[in-house]
Amino acid sequence: MKIKNICCIGAGYVGGPTMAVIAQKCPNLDVTVVDINEKRIAAWNDPDVENIPIYEPGLSEIVKEARGRNLFFSTDVDTAIDKADMIFISVNTPTKTYGIGKGMAADLKWIELCARQIAEVAKNDKIIVEKSTLPVRTAAALKDILDNTGNGVKFQILSNPEFLAEGTAVEDLEKPDRVLIGGDIDTPEGKEAMEALVSIYASWVPKENILTTNVWSSELSKLTANAFLAQRVSSINAMSELCEKTGADVNEVAKAVGMDSRVGPKFLKASVGFGGSCFQKDILNLVYIAKTFGLNEVADYWEQVIIMNDHQKRRFAANIVKTLYNTVSGKKIAILGWAFKKDTNDTRESAAIYVTDYLLNEQAEILVYDPKVKPEQVYADLEYLCTHSNEEIRERVKVVTSAEEACKDAHAIAVLTEWDEFKELDWKEVYENMLKPAFLFDGRRLLNRKVMENIGFEFYTIGN
Ligand code: NAD
Ligand code: UDX
Repeated sequence: MKIKNICCIGAGYVGGPTMAVIAQKCPNLDVTVVDINEKRIAAWNDPDVENIPIYEPGLSEIVKEARGRNLFFSTDVDTAIDKADMIFISVNTPTKTYGIGKGMAADLKWIELCARQIAEVAKNDKIIVEKSTLPVRTAAALKDILDNTGNGVKFQILSNPEFLAEGTAVEDLEKPDRVLIGGDIDTPEGKEAMEALVSIYASWVPKENILTTNVWSSELSKLTANAFLAQRVSSINAMSELCEKTGADVNEVAKAVGMDSRVGPKFLKASVGFGGSCFQKDILNLVYIAKTFGLNEVADYWEQVIIMNDHQKRRFAANIVKTLYNTVSGKKIAILGWAFKKDTNDTRESAAIYVTDYLLNEQAEILVYDPKVKPEQVYADLEYLCTHSNEEIRERVKVVTSAEEACKDAHAIAVLTEWDEFKELDWKEVYENMLKPAFLFDGRRLLNRKVMENIGFEFYTIGN
């Protein structure tokens, strides 16, 4: 099957970069990314590519090259569906906030809306690709909806989960460890659809890195991959607390453990806790799925990864209060970094939100600086928790435009995102402009203890 027109529903952190790279690597394909969010699409179409809605190193250059040539952004979902031979569904699948499975299950309402819209609009056969992260067996529900519309159109459903990490999305898309494609391996039509998607990726990914499986294995592999990665972070964070009690250094422990080739060195960096839109949501989803099958031990095992992560964020914040003589009421605390990791403007589930919320409970005055996050986003993140009134948040939290400004006259600094520019700060000057004793809490193991202590800081870090 020859694919000419691709449509992607969802112009977010996955849909945008993924389709930009496909359009760049396959100039013979026409790629249209659609979204119901008009503001987001307008930003993708902004004549100045620096204003595209997602910050990822290298992304604006790719958009500049392909946009208007074979990469298009639009709010006209119906037309894009109608034209497409292959449709990627890359919409959000957040944790449910209501009803059965509240706080655990993935909310599939946007996925189902897409399926119903495709079913209504499609006039010819199409390949549907699940790009969103979905509970295992979602493809069966999609097929049910698509096959029962009575307009005679045939759909093949593929699972093609995305493994990119934010901040390195372009690099991950250009050189993926693997591309995973699940489909109906038992029928010629299923195999043909999988081949069509394989051949798109094969334009730039070596064939041996393109893995094909049955659709359920593909869906479950995505949840499993995120669970394993998050589990490593919670494991090292658990050890960080023990290091603090025993005089061991978590970085040294991680290095020693990671040099065992069976363990490997990556994802063993102790931190204030993992954030991001995926790890927590996907593990909760996994826990929920296990519970629905009555697999309580499996569910409890994975839930512990989240419990440990929540503990890590809480104990970091509690340590600030304890160290500042058990009260931060009215004290100025500078938060350096709001994004959930460096090189992204995404703040979903960022540890900074929870640490700040904890400090607000203690009536601290907060000054936030992040090089890529806009003030409205900081306020929206705190308001979403519904733990403090909007008035209180705006009164107590100020978002400023430089680290120096945030730290001026502060009682304490908390480094919560590992932005490179925080390493380069003139820490001596920062120290001089703070109240004394000047407390510095490094939630990212970014700064050197000796250097900071020599300047005069009371220095606290994770796992040492
Ligand atoms: P996102 O919220 O940034 O983007 C989703 C977009 O879909 C939104 O702009 C929304 O307006 C749009 N949308 C929702 N319903 C729609 C509809 N019916 N029609 C048109 N547009 C619609 O989400 P994201 O971070 O890109 O994640 C998308 C999926 O990919 C999720 O399932 C997520 O778990 C998965 N994923 C995310 C990452 C990541 O790093 N963010 C990595 C791998 C997988
Ligand atoms: C993750 C997965 O890595 C990616 O494969 C998947 O597609 C989406 O979810 P992402 O959430 O974008 O990607 O970033 P990631 O690099 O995994 O970091 C997640 C969180 O864990 C961040 O807050 C990061 O700071 C933290 N982390 C990561 C650590 O604290 N220590 C580590 O060693 C690694």
